Amino acid sequence: MATRFTAPAASTELPSVEAALLHVASKDERPINYTFEPPPGVPWRTGKYVDVTLPIRDARPLVDQLSIDVQGFQFLSVPTTFRNFQDAAAIKSVYHRECEALIKRVTGASLALAYDHNVRSGAVERRTADGVREVARRVHGDFTAGSGPKRARDELEGAGLDADRLLRSRFALINAWRPIVGPVLQKPLALCDARTVAPDDLVLSDLMHPGRKGEIYSLAPNPAHRWYYVPKMRTDEVLLIKCFDSDGTRASFTPHGAFDDPNTPADAPPRQSIEVRVLAVFAPDA
Ligand code: OGA
Ligand code: FE
Repeated sequence: MATRFTAPAASTELPSVEAALLHVASKDERPINYTFEPPPGVPWRTGKYVDVTLPIRDARPLVDQLSIDVQGFQFLSVPTTFRNFQDAAAIKSVYHRECEALIKRVTGASLALAYDHNVRSGAVERRTADGVREVARRVHGDFTAGSGPKRARDELEGAGLDADRLLRSRFALINAWRPIVGPVLQKPLALCDARTVAPDDLVLSDLMHPGRKGEIYSLAPNPAHRWYYVPKMRTDEVLLIKCFDSDGTRASFTPHGAFDDPNTPADAPPRQSIEVRVLAVFAPDA
């Protein structure tokens, strides 16, 4: 069943599109999602989902007012000379360093550790042999109150750093999302203003990776949510998305997901993007 939320009064409104975002239909069930072929007899995913048609506002007129600590996402103009997005080793050795420097510059973090990335394409249905993943239609937050700190600890320990000491300071998990081909005309990314999300809207869910179980939040619909997107994002533009913050007074768990843009031209190329996951630590002595 599809739900429709009507757009509020038009007077103060930004330009917007009406489009469907895929939410969880029930808060009483824990959805499980496999990112790889599940064992025989196990379904690729469980849980009920519902498409909710709602206004998604054009964030371009207010990009300068967006803050990773307030709305939970921030837009930046950040050209890069890196082009080798087909080469995972090059992404790790070169592009991860760029993202670490960016996060330090923008947030003031004393330490930034890029620990993961996904290259996505609107042309694939699920992860390909060369590691390219599908776009994520289900709106979600990448980490939960439990899995955020756990992942931060795992990554620091894996890097040989003193997790006990560093995690006494504030830390955050931030994605740096960038188009690889631009402008993005197909399946753009929608982001929800974190201030409009109630704790009760976040539904614990399992994301099964080979050899690892990740806990994420799926999102239940709520007419209070305010959704945004940046139309026609270019390869010299980046969105930072806050997925966890140990400081509960700042934005955290920012929901996001891809949608079918009704303005997509018939000959639009598939969306291609990369998100790099970065741990930021705000330790005076790190
Ligand atoms: C992310 C994410 C989905 C997409 O960057 O964490 O979920 O379709 N992206 O790009
Ligand atoms: Fe995500």
